[in-house]
Amino acid sequence: MLKKNSKIFLAGHNGMVGSAILRLLKKRGYKNIIIKSKKELDLTNQKKTYEFLKKNKPEYVIIAAALVGGIKKNIDLKPDFLIKNTLIASNIIHGSYLTKIQNLLFLGSSCVYPGNLKKEISENILLKGELEKSNEGYALAKIFGIKLCEYYSQYYKLNYFSLMPCNVFGPGDNYDLDTSHFLPAILKKIKLIKENRMKYLYLWGDGKALREVIYVEDLADACLFFLKKKNNPSLINIGTDIEYSIKNFAKQIMKILDVKTEIKFHKTNIKGTYRKKLDTTLSKKLGWKYKTKFSEAIIKTYELL
Ligand SMILES: NC(=O)c1ccc[n+]([C@@H]2O[C@H](COP(=O)([O-])OP(=O)(O)OC[C@H]3O[C@@H](n4cnc5c(N)ncnc54)[C@H](OP(=O)(O)O)[C@@H]3O)[C@@H](O)[C@H]2O)c1
Repeated sequence: MLKKNSKIFLAGHNGMVGSAILRLLKKRGYKNIIIKSKKELDLTNQKKTYEFLKKNKPEYVIIAAALVGGIKKNIDLKPDFLIKNTLIASNIIHGSYLTKIQNLLFLGSSCVYPGNLKKEISENILLKGELEKSNEGYALAKIFGIKLCEYYSQYYKLNYFSLMPCNVFGPGDNYDLDTSHFLPAILKKIKLIKENRMKYLYLWGDGKALREVIYVEDLADACLFFLKKKNNPSLINIGTDIEYSIKNFAKQIMKILDVKTEIKFHKTNIKGTYRKKLDTTLSKKLGWKYKTKFSEAIIKTYELL
């Protein structure tokens, strides 16, 4: 059982998701948290990762470390996304198994599911169709991690499971306009408009693709909720009801932040999947639902930008 003094290794604590998990762990009184930056422990290094796990023997492992990025970065660095994320997953998951660690939470992503599905995506759709090309490297590495957790749980009776969040946003996001996800890019452009450094709100593509988002504090809450449970299903979708087209996200955010300008489209060949809305029946059945209203999350995120 997860106790306030349980030894928890949180990988990726400097990232957007990892830092939100760390804040929540501390807020809820967890005292025995081990953290290491990439500089201190490069998780693509097998020997160092195994040695670290053997020496520290955490009771719980949370993997929020990965090479992450928006659509352009995923296309530009496809080999890196595949190899680095596979190594990170392999080293920590197999290293945890070797060290006899009982509980492990791996963060996947909705990108692991086949592309261009019109219907909501339930967990059993995994590997039932072709992956979206733009993030294939990232998705393959994540599928490797998901399956490794599933097999180790099945074969060795371990509580290794994966949460599959939709697009995440919140404090600590990447706001680099070339490598970020679409929502932080909209927030950054709105900031530039407010500062009179940009006139119009430019969006890549035609803005018609639908996306679902979750506030990072809600994802952190889901992580702790499921970490406390024993015998989790191997794969659990973590989504919301917040789904709009990218153009409508831009309109909603402009309204929330009181910005009036024209939206213009930047023609580009960069194209992602049309829709990837998660079916959240399973997480709701297990007792978890997101809490934060979209407008509240946008205001909190923008304040810290
Ligand atoms: N962002 C999203 O929209 C989204 C959506 C679904 C799922 N997820 C998943 O959530 C997790 C966290 O994403 P995020 O958005 O928080 O990413 P992020 O902000 O880019 O943070 C990634 C973290 O991973 C660490 N890291 C990367 N390579 C490493 C390595 N070789 N060794 C050790 N640490 C390494 C980084 O450490 P340093 O800071 O020390 O360099 C950083 O703290 C990922 O597994 C991602 O797939 C994210």
